[in-house]
Amino acid sequence: MENLEQLVAQATAAFAAATEPSRLEAVKAAYLGKDGALTALLKGLGKLPPEERRNAGAAINAAKAQIEAALAARREALRNAQLDAQLKATALDVTLPGRGQARGTLHPVMRTLERIEELFRSIGFEVSDGPEIETDWHNFTALNTPKNHPARSMHDTFYLLDEQGRVREDVLLRTHTSPVQIRTMLAHVEKYKYLDVMPEIRVICPGRVYRVDSDATHSPMFHQVEGLWVGENVSFADLKGVVADFLRRFFESDDLKVRFRPSFFPFTEPSAEIDVAFMGGALEGRWLEIAGCGMVHPNVLRAGNIDPEKYTGFAFGMGPDRLTMLRYGINDLRLFFDGDLRFLSQFQ
Ligand code: DAH
Repeated sequence: MENLEQLVAQATAAFAAATEPSRLEAVKAAYLGKDGALTALLKGLGKLPPEERRNAGAAINAAKAQIEAALAARREALRNAQLDAQLKATALDVTLPGRGQARGTLHPVMRTLERIEELFRSIGFEVSDGPEIETDWHNFTALNTPKNHPARSMHDTFYLLDEQGRVREDVLLRTHTSPVQIRTMLAHVEKYKYLDVMPEIRVICPGRVYRVDSDATHSPMFHQVEGLWVGENVSFADLKGVVADFLRRFFESDDLKVRFRPSFFPFTEPSAEIDVAFMGGALEGRWLEIAGCGMVHPNVLRAGNIDPEKYTGFAFGMGPDRLTMLRYGINDLRLFFDGDLRFLSQFQ
């Protein structure tokens, strides 16, 4: 009987030592298999005297049952351990942040442009654009700035090169959006040439412009929005009303101060700079220049095939980069063009 107890203990220990299901099955064979220890004992029963057989048989069967139970328990334990390991390996931590693609956002300057477009559309302006590679004629000459005009030096211009690498004088990166005025007038006149009275031109032209310039407040590429209203009896008073109303709506402030300060542009006469001053906040009371404007010069109307005796117009050119900086309190223009997501993603 002691032998049987030992056998059970031995089998249980051997099962516990098996850490793989396949190993466990191999160990099982040594006890319960055809040539296993228990089978041998059962076979040996026949050699015992008949009066001992009964007790011995019952004892062996009891030991067998214990070993089978130990085997089943170990099988179960191994299966659970395997399941645990599997779950750990493929664990899903639902508290981790998701890995889905982040949603993109509009660039802050594009937001400003959309807002400007929306506000001008609401008072009957259309939106148009022109090429960034422009002719010298559209960019300067047609805007009353002929060759050798001193005002050309106000713009530090990127000229294009020809195939031999020489500077071409007739093609450049536009230095302002004003050439779109000329393109708009020419297309408009062509479109309505069969009418006696030309419908009004009311348009804004947002876009990229280029100048040889780079520091905290200047970038070689920046944005402008040109405005043009041409019709019968369009006056400087209309210009003041449209611009002042736009600025108050843009900055959502009724007590914004707007000032028209006399200035010079070749393509307008008279000309002015538009300054704004906020009545609160960090910039309180400081005049900030945000646009140039004026009454379209007769020579410019002529270049657009419009009769300056019959029609007048006003124009303005403003800097949406500057407007964006003011609206969001940004102090370095270069942040807009560095493409740093830590900056850009703040404008959700
Ligand atoms: N084109 C001018 C510039 O880039 C801005 C400007 C001034 C545009 C007066 C206008 C205007 O249409 O009337 O400096």
